[in-house]
Amino acid sequence: MKILLVENLSRSFGGIKANDDISFSVDQGSILGIIGPNGAGKSTLFDLITGYTKADRGKVEFFKKNIFGLSPDKISNLGVGRTFQKLKPFADQTLLENVMIGAFVKEQNIKKARDKALEIIDFVDLIEKRHHFAKELSTGQRKRLEMARAMAIEPKLLLMDEVTGGVDQKTIPGLVELIKKLKKTGVTIITIEHNINIIMEISDNVLALDQGRSIAFGPPKDIQKNKEVIDSYLGTFDAA
Ligand SMILES: Nc1ncnc2c1ncn2[C@@H]1O[C@H](COP(=O)(O)OP(=O)(O)OP(=O)(O)O)[C@@H](O)[C@H]1O
Ligand SMILES: [Mg+2]
Repeated sequence: MKILLVENLSRSFGGIKANDDISFSVDQGSILGIIGPNGAGKSTLFDLITGYTKADRGKVEFFKKNIFGLSPDKISNLGVGRTFQKLKPFADQTLLENVMIGAFVKEQNIKKARDKALEIIDFVDLIEKRHHFAKELSTGQRKRLEMARAMAIEPKLLLMDEVTGGVDQKTIPGLVELIKKLKKTGVTIITIEHNINIIMEISDNVLALDQGRSIAFGPPKDIQKNKEVIDSYLGTFDAA
C-alpha cells in the first residue's frame, strides 16, 4: 500500500530549480531516506509536500487523496507530521507545554492532552525534563522535543529533516534508536539525513537528490553502487 505518491513535483525560486520534476512513492510502514548535497532541494521537497511552500506543478497524494495545494494545517490534520531543520520550539515554554500544543490538535480536553503529551515525552525518553524550558535543553534534547511535538498530532506519515544534524557524535546513536522505535509503532517515515551510514542502516528505500533533480531511487544497497550518486554525493564515502 502506497501511503504517499509524488509525481513531477517542481518549484523554482527565481532561476533556481529547487525541485525539478521529482517523482517517488512511499510504502506504508517503511522508512524512505533522502540524501543529497547542500542545496539539493531536500528541505524544499518537505515544504512542498506539507504545504509550507506552494509547488509550481506536480501531484501529491496521501492515501490516494490529492493534497496538492492544501494548507499546512489541513495536511497536518490529515496525518502528515514534520520536524524542521531549523528547530522552532517555543523557547520560553516547557517541554511539556511545547508537546501539549501539538496534542491539542487532536485532543481539546486539557487533562487528556496533557496525559498524551506526557506519554509521548516518555516515548522520546525525556520525561525527567518535562518541566524544563525548551531553551534549557541541549540540541539533542531539542531534536527529541521536535519529534515529540510532531508525534503529538498522531501522524500516519512523519517527515523528519536532519534529526542527527548539528548534534555531537555521542548523541547520534540514541536518536537513531528513537527513529527505529518510532518505525515499530507503525508510522511511515521520510527522513533527510546527511550521515550516509545511518541512511544505509535504517532506510527501506533511498531517494538521492542533486541540484533539484532526483538522480536515484531504490534500496540502500543499489544506491550505494549508483555511479551518479557516488559522483555527486558519496565521493567521500568509503566506509561500506
Ligand atoms: N524560500 C526560498 N527562497 C529562495 N530560494 C530558496 C528558498 N528555499 C530554498 N531555496 C533554494 O533552493 C535550493 C534548495 O534548497 P533546500 O533548502 O531545499 O536544500 P537542502 O537540500 O535542504 O540543503 P541543506 O542540506 O543545506 O539543508 C537552494 O539553492 C536554496 O537556496
Ligand atoms: Mg535542508
